[in-house]
Amino acid sequence: MPVNIAIDGPAGAGKSTIAKAAAKALGYIYVDTGALYRAAALTMIENGISPSDRVSVAVKLSALPDGFFALKYIDGVQHVFAGGKDVSDKIRTPEVSMGASAVSAHPEMRKFLFDLQKKIAAENNIIMDGRDIGTVVLPDADVKIYLTASAEERAKRRLKELAEKPDCPSYEEVLADIKQRDYNDMHRDIAPLKQAEDAVVADTSNVNLDGAIKLVMDIISDKLAHK
Ligand code: DC
Repeated sequence: MPVNIAIDGPAGAGKSTIAKAAAKALGYIYVDTGALYRAAALTMIENGISPSDRVSVAVKLSALPDGFFALKYIDGVQHVFAGGKDVSDKIRTPEVSMGASAVSAHPEMRKFLFDLQKKIAAENNIIMDGRDIGTVVLPDADVKIYLTASAEERAKRRLKELAEKPDCPSYEEVLADIKQRDYNDMHRDIAPLKQAEDAVVADTSNVNLDGAIKLVMDIISDKLAHK
């Protein structure tokens, strides 16, 4: 049986950076499920559909062929495809972030991506990050971690990432965005962001990146040693 490690937590807690580093150290595949919701949001936006319009999103999804959204690994790096096109670079805008948060609240959307996530986890040793991995997608994961940090600390980190891009938003805008996404992700009816009962909490507010990676690696080693 492949080893499955689930990492959930709010936007900007460092899940992807930390999960990527841990996956590399363990020789596992890193699966960023947020990229799938982002690719779905982009597809809706490009087709003139509002990501919050549940009915139109559901109709569009029902018209998409099997395998429309796909993850591929090129030199160990995850790329996300929508309709055969690599959209990895187009999904990191604030518009798509907000769209992903909206689109992910629809049950039809979650159902559409569920099997794909399950299949990847059934076939590979993985570290999968998202919002509902430990609670819904992989309830039997070998290790579950809930990675979090204060909203202010997460906003500071996100701002650093965005600083190199044109049209960089202000700290206040980034913080408001993070708080809005936290609210959306935690209050939706289906698969809301929450800590799985058997998840270990890792709070990275007061540790640097190396410290956070060590924290997560220690939890994983400890859990796997006791299996
Ligand atoms: O992790 P991220 O910021 O790339 O995720 C983008 C949005 O997708 C996030 O606001 C919530 C949603 N999401 C989700 O609902 N379930 C997941 N497993 C992953 C992401």
